[in-house]
Amino acid sequence: MSNIDLSTQISGFKLDNLIFNASGPRCTTKEDLDILLQSSAGAIISKSSTAQLREGNPSPRYIDVPLGSINSMGLPNLGIDFYLDYFRQNQETLTKPMFISVAGLSLDENLDILHKIHTSDFFFPVELNLSCPNVPGKPQTGYDFERTQEVLEKVFEFYKKPLGIKLPPYFDLIHFEQMAAILNQFPIQFVTCVNSIGNGLYIDIANESVVIKPKNGFGGIGGDYIKPTALANVRQFYTLLRKDIQIIGCGGIKNGQDAFEHILCGASAVQIGTQLMKEDVTTCFERISQELRDLMQQKGYTKIDDFKGKLKSL
Ligand code: DHB
Repeated sequence: MSNIDLSTQISGFKLDNLIFNASGPRCTTKEDLDILLQSSAGAIISKSSTAQLREGNPSPRYIDVPLGSINSMGLPNLGIDFYLDYFRQNQETLTKPMFISVAGLSLDENLDILHKIHTSDFFFPVELNLSCPNVPGKPQTGYDFERTQEVLEKVFEFYKKPLGIKLPPYFDLIHFEQMAAILNQFPIQFVTCVNSIGNGLYIDIANESVVIKPKNGFGGIGGDYIKPTALANVRQFYTLLRKDIQIIGCGGIKNGQDAFEHILCGASAVQIGTQLMKEDVTTCFERISQELRDLMQQKGYTKIDDFKGKLKSL
């Protein structure tokens, strides 16, 4: 047995392994969620849910590319009732926290879904997604600061269960400060940094065409392309947010070193997105966890608090 401890706590819930899936890939259906539950992921999170089932955008809508991925799924999901039922059906046997991601298409839809969760028996954290880039005509709430303030005011008027926010990536220092000042006003338990870099364009040179059908080929970019941006967002929010708001790192994690870098920037847990589409789910979590343990061992660390947030400046 290794003496390296990958456990963490998010919002007071223990995760035996700080690595779990990002909302999006392979977490929509019962089969997807069952596989995640059986894997060595330390928690599971659902696909972002809406009030009703959605088919999503026309295909092709996800393409694996050498340095990452591009997607414009359009929020295909089975609806909030399905994810609440899945929780209920597994509640007795759950060995890890089950997060639900919520991405209503309007403020009212988000409030309706959250009311439903609030009056249900669900008690694990919700990740409120303010950063879906793929629904035509629906801007990313996280890029509209006044709107974000309004959403959070309305949510926290009644919502008392644990809640975190999935943020889009930011690219300007003033935007980090403005968003952190908003988030710091509310009893948020965690932020997840980052969603995909929205509205990138990937080109098939042989066909001289786009590679996904929705939105003339524009889609969210994940994978290697986004790791430096993700790390910068984790670092900035770790520095600027209240110390009781935890950071979940997401973006470009495909091996143990990437996970280590996110933790060094301040992440208390990390999520795997694109890599879960490129690799078998079970082996993906096992491999990355073992690589992280090996790296920690080499460096003489036994737990994540030994290096979390301790990125050095020059
Ligand atoms: C979708 C993509 C996202 O990045 C997100 O946060 C939510 C939904 C999608 O296209 O399904």
